[in-house]
Amino acid sequence: MIRINENYTKLAASYLFADIARRVNAYTAAHPDRPVIRLGIGDVTEPLPAACVEALHAATDEMAQRATFKGYGPEQGYAFLRELVAQRDYADRGCAIGPDEVFVSDGSKCDSGNIQEIFATDIRLAIPDPVYPVYVDTNVMAGRTGACVDGRYEGILYLESTAANSYVPAVPQAPADLVYLCFPNNPTGAVATRQQLAAWVDYAKRNRAVLLFDSAYESYIRDPAIPHSIYEIEGARDVAIEFRSFSKTAGFTGTRCAYTVVP
Ligand SMILES: Cc1ncc(COP(=O)(O)O)c(C=O)c1O
Repeated sequence: MIRINENYTKLAASYLFADIARRVNAYTAAHPDRPVIRLGIGDVTEPLPAACVEALHAATDEMAQRATFKGYGPEQGYAFLRELVAQRDYADRGCAIGPDEVFVSDGSKCDSGNIQEIFATDIRLAIPDPVYPVYVDTNVMAGRTGACVDGRYEGILYLESTAANSYVPAVPQAPADLVYLCFPNNPTGAVATRQQLAAWVDYAKRNRAVLLFDSAYESYIRDPAIPHSIYEIEGARDVAIEFRSFSKTAGFTGTRCAYTVVP
């Protein structure tokens, strides 16, 4: 007999953004004359840049001709893109990441949500609070947490991010096996210094843990002293997986293209 995955029933407010959309729709239906200032889901306000539009059109034309039609792409992504990512995003910043360590995908939401499937279900999780909600929700669905009590799931080590620590959580005393970090952070915008990231790499090594580093917003960093990638930290190759997205930098939120780096 078919049965539901009981872990789904633990989801407090399902996907946060779906819940916000539901509430906004209910409010606008009840108050059609009231303007709504939306502070929920972030989205870009500019269209795709000309270079992206031209490349998308050219790629469509390729797929429209028998001589140039490609079918499914290589599963890790086209080599020309992986080579450029390895060079421009990593080698140029002094990070030794090879094209064969880059996995092109259909969005960082999918990648940061799906990655947990490769780990055991009884591992200890550490997740910042507040943070992009996908990390918590996917682990809840996978059965790595208990019930939600007062807005927090049992079994997650929440990394408090408050004004007192400038929204950059310190390395905890307690051990964890899988640690999510997001810098620049959604939603706080906080960035981590080289020293703070080095402390996390050290923590991961001591605990034989993996860091999942989401740097979807790295191109907004203006201070040259702030690392754009976890791989700018010595030893990070041994313990970290990094997520990057073109959504915020190239107007790709409606198109989705991203990549994950697994050294
Ligand atoms: C921190 C963070 N990671 C990942 C994503 C998703 O990126 P993508 O559009 O590539 O799925 C978002 C989008 O809001 C985000 O804020």
